Amino acid sequence: MNFEFIPENKRKFEEYLKRYPQKKAVLLPALWLVQEQQGWISPESMEYLAKLLDLSHAYIYETVTFYTMYNKKPIGKHHIQVCNSVCCWLRGSQETVEQIKKKLNIEVGETTTDKRFHLSTVECLGSCGTAPMMQINNDYYEDLTEAKIDKILKELK
Ligand code: FES
Repeated sequence: MNFEFIPENKRKFEEYLKRYPQKKAVLLPALWLVQEQQGWISPESMEYLAKLLDLSHAYIYETVTFYTMYNKKPIGKHHIQVCNSVCCWLRGSQETVEQIKKKLNIEVGETTTDKRFHLSTVECLGSCGTAPMMQINNDYYEDLTEAKIDKILKELK
């Protein structure tokens, strides 16, 4: 399946090109645009960017696989990332993870069969004062409790 930026993202990409002295510097924001558009970085999208940025496929692949925030396979509509670093861990992040696993019937790293949710654990998201917390797509959910998690998941269905 071929990949191509939608017109809005193509426009953003062109804007990024004007900001940097070298095309290569646009790779990270361009990958982010790809992920926003289709939810993950497919091999076809890497080929597409390789042509646009005059880079090798290998260079792009190395970049994509280096950064954990780039999805290497399709994931669910709602990407749940539970912080598992020390502050959140001390305030019950393991219970948060267990509750979500049970509720959605998936393990960490899995996607629900209806493709609505994907569960990950991640390192500190910089919101330690509101631990335990998680990020779902671009939003933070903080000071989590069992009731709050139930409500959040229910509203996202
Ligand atoms: S330890 Fe969880 S946000 Fe920092």
